[in-house]
Amino acid sequence: MMADEVRILGFAGSLRKQSYNRSALRAAVKLVPADSKLDAFDLAGIPLFNQDHEREPPSTVREFKAAVKAADAILIVTPEYNYSVPGVLKNALDWASRPYGDNAWDGKPVGIIGASIGMLGTGRAQYHLRQMFVFLNMFPLNQPEVMIAYADEKFDEEGNLKDAKTAQKIQGLLEALAAWTRSLKKTRPDT
Ligand code: FNR
Repeated sequence: MMADEVRILGFAGSLRKQSYNRSALRAAVKLVPADSKLDAFDLAGIPLFNQDHEREPPSTVREFKAAVKAADAILIVTPEYNYSVPGVLKNALDWASRPYGDNAWDGKPVGIIGASIGMLGTGRAQYHLRQMFVFLNMFPLNQPEVMIAYADEKFDEEGNLKDAKTAQKIQGLLEALAAWTRSLKKTRPDT
């Protein structure tokens, strides 16, 4: 491991096998800068949040929280459902924020990518996410914003990203996220 390697934990807000967002996350894993690392976590095994179990969460949740805590930065790749974030994503964010006083997201830099078959490319979901980051005390990367519109035209049948401009945007976001993470670490060396 490089001394100042930025370890990013990425996850997708869709469980669909052919998901454009899962595909975008896979593309991002390949586009991460050489001095950083992006590991993907699959949210499929995370059950519905129940506050009765927040102090003794299921093992998949414990695993997820540990991965979040160990990461230097977070990458969320999500669809937009009904003008907001999918329940799958909100559920995972909620689990890892609890119990009160043990918020795994606290102080984490975070980047957002979203893919939609529509023309607005998940913009509304992304701004809802940014609102959640206030209470979670996460530090979102403001720009570049990566909103992949008309996603069905940008991936091939196997889910490979075929649009060079989108690849370039994802690469730019990952570089900016790594730089943002390093600059935050300088001001908060203990995190
Ligand atoms: C959608 N879709 C959608 N798209 C969008 O741009 N804005 C929206 O508000 C919604 N709402 C919505 C709700 C629900 C329940 C579903 C299932 C879908 C369409 C969405 O962009 C499309 O299904 C994507 O393919 C979902 O992302 P994945 O699964 O391909 O990653």
